[in-house]
Amino acid sequence: MRRAVCPGSFDPVTNGHIDIVSRASGLFDEVVVAVGINQSKNRLFSAEERVAMLTEACADYANVRVDTFTGLLTDFCNEQGIHAIVKGLRAVSDFDYELQMAQMNSSLTDVETVFVPTSPEYSFLASSLVKEVAMFGGDVSSLVPAFVNKQLIERLAERSRD
Ligand code: PNS
Repeated sequence: MRRAVCPGSFDPVTNGHIDIVSRASGLFDEVVVAVGINQSKNRLFSAEERVAMLTEACADYANVRVDTFTGLLTDFCNEQGIHAIVKGLRAVSDFDYELQMAQMNSSLTDVETVFVPTSPEYSFLASSLVKEVAMFGGDVSSLVPAFVNKQLIERLAERSRD
């Protein structure tokens, strides 16, 4: 069984993430989309909400499941029998840090990182930018699934009332 992990914060999942997951699902027998839980980071959506959104977003891919992890990604890989990490590369600017993480991860355990070039239409897409644009009332409906857009608008409205 060739099993891979697509790790990330997914706060929230974007169409760019789904593009990478769908392509990973064609390359591997099983893909685990793993939401990294880092309590020290301030997230817009809780871990449970991010998992629920990803589960809905990935529902069409029979060999994809969603999970969470805390601590080192390599520990999660060892626990799950995973030897491949799939990462999307949007631009050269992603490469330096991703290469560093790939080399660190392979120094820690028996794992390869597979870089998948992001489809050009998503090369500018990042969860952080989606949140910023939505926060100022910009339309991100073409960048995230419709149900994510709805939750994003609701959450940002709640926050602005607080
Ligand atoms: O979506 P993000 O925020 O770019 O995802 C980053 C993530 C969660 C994939 C990365 O921070 C990670 O792997 N964190 C787990 C902690 C870890 O293993 N750190 C060492 C990396 S070499």
